[in-house]
Amino acid sequence: MTGRRILELGAGAAAAARWLAAEGARPVALDLSAGMLRHAAEAADRSGVRVPLVQADALALPFADATFDTVCTAFGAIPFVDDSAAAMREVARVLRPGGRWVFSVTHPMRWIFLDDPGEGGLTAVHSYFDRSPYVEQDARGVATYVEQHRTVGDRIRELVGAGFRLLDLVEPEWPAGHEGVWGQWSPLRGRLFPGTAIFVTEKPAG
Ligand SMILES: C[S@@+](CC[C@H](N)C(=O)[O-])C[C@H]1O[C@@H](n2cnc3c(N)ncnc32)[C@H](O)[C@@H]1O
Repeated sequence: MTGRRILELGAGAAAAARWLAAEGARPVALDLSAGMLRHAAEAADRSGVRVPLVQADALALPFADATFDTVCTAFGAIPFVDDSAAAMREVARVLRPGGRWVFSVTHPMRWIFLDDPGEGGLTAVHSYFDRSPYVEQDARGVATYVEQHRTVGDRIRELVGAGFRLLDLVEPEWPAGHEGVWGQWSPLRGRLFPGTAIFVTEKPAG
């Protein structure tokens, strides 16, 4: 980790970037949302761990080619952009050859279920193959939250299309003894199917 130049994409309050800094890396935390970056600035004040904060779109990263050794995100940016294939290409551009792009998304198979941690979240109600986005609107019909769905095959295709090599697809299992329920996440569902998919990829060297 020491000295590695790491871009955290869709960093939100930049918790991962502060952890990376504490491990000796040189992270930059990027997010589209000024509000989320304000949380990141407040967390930096509280913790005393400061990382550079950049407000930008994952589709137009304000960095030169081959700037970073690693790009990563936990659930950031990728599920929220319409053209995620373009986001993959943009990540490939700012990574040095041999660098890694590691990102997590809600596991694509969750798309078929309601976001219900109980029994209601165990019945398939949506098609896995329906790529229409999930949209929430305010009273005036303005979209306030949009989440995109891609199948596992779509993700692999857009990664390969951007020139990445897929090294691993990690599907964490629900930890034994963890009884907490948070939003759609619960032991009931967690012991039956994965909630998270972590794609571990590499930009080939040379
Ligand atoms: C679910 S949050 C995850 C935040 C953080 N990674 C974490 O683990 O707490 C998703 C984040 O992606 C950001 N985001 C959404 N679209 C983006 C885009 N096009 N470019 C950069 N960030 C984006 C949001 O503002 C939000 O902070």
